[in-house]
Amino acid sequence: MANTASPNTSSGTSFPVGKPLPPQRRFLETLRRDPWWLMPAITVVVFSMFIVYATWGVFNPTNYWYGNYLGPMYSPEIFGDSPHAMFGPKPGWWPEWLFFSPAMLILWAPGGFRFTCYYYRGAYYKAFWGDPPGCAVGEPRKSYLGENWFPLIIQNIHRYFLYFALIFIFFLGHDAWKAMWFHDPATGQEVFGIGLGTIIISLNVVFLGLYTFSCHSLRHLVGGYVNQFSRRPVQKQAWSCVSCLNKWHPVYAWISLFWVLFTDIYVRMLSYGYWTDWRIL
Ligand code: FES
Repeated sequence: MANTASPNTSSGTSFPVGKPLPPQRRFLETLRRDPWWLMPAITVVVFSMFIVYATWGVFNPTNYWYGNYLGPMYSPEIFGDSPHAMFGPKPGWWPEWLFFSPAMLILWAPGGFRFTCYYYRGAYYKAFWGDPPGCAVGEPRKSYLGENWFPLIIQNIHRYFLYFALIFIFFLGHDAWKAMWFHDPATGQEVFGIGLGTIIISLNVVFLGLYTFSCHSLRHLVGGYVNQFSRRPVQKQAWSCVSCLNKWHPVYAWISLFWVLFTDIYVRMLSYGYWTDWRIL
């Protein structure tokens, strides 16, 4: 049945009554002429690559470290075979039949943080199941349930993943610090130095920090819930800082995703012996 437009008398203008609204667009139907599909297509390719690489990385728990460099997908290494492991090798109580990888102990936290990110949700809802495919583009369903129902209501867990993500920034910062101390075989001491890997690992913390500190949930946490900023000057300042970063959240999301991937690949390439670290200092 055709809908009809309502008269608008409150503003003094009146719209034609009885004129039918245009029929609902079919899936992917649109009048848009711009390449609206490009960003969702890029998202599918990049996310798929990342998921494939991360899965491969989890199931290949070797060559994830090189000297004082630790690949970010294995950080913090709680148990493992590298000298970076906090509590030594795989514990004796680990079931024999269960596959073990240091990455599987920790990757759920940053993975969950990204998966439930407000920006990424918008991106992969469009890209992977086209719901909606884009602004003013026909949708696959006529109803809209939002994220109020199972399973998408689980996305609200994002704020809790944020707490873990903040802790991870601390560990990754510690990795960057360790990446500045190289073993000197002549003296047996650790000496300060800068390699290309040091810079790559340090930039990884910076980009992940920008992504984490621009999070929408953090913006709420530091002051978004306050009703009267005039009584909370410190929270107002914190909220302003996060708001400022928040404008660039999608940019940080992409840069940090690429960089964490590149950093992990860089450390692995060094470990496999395919690449040589350039020692700057
Ligand atoms: Fe993107 Fe929180 S909204 S990380």
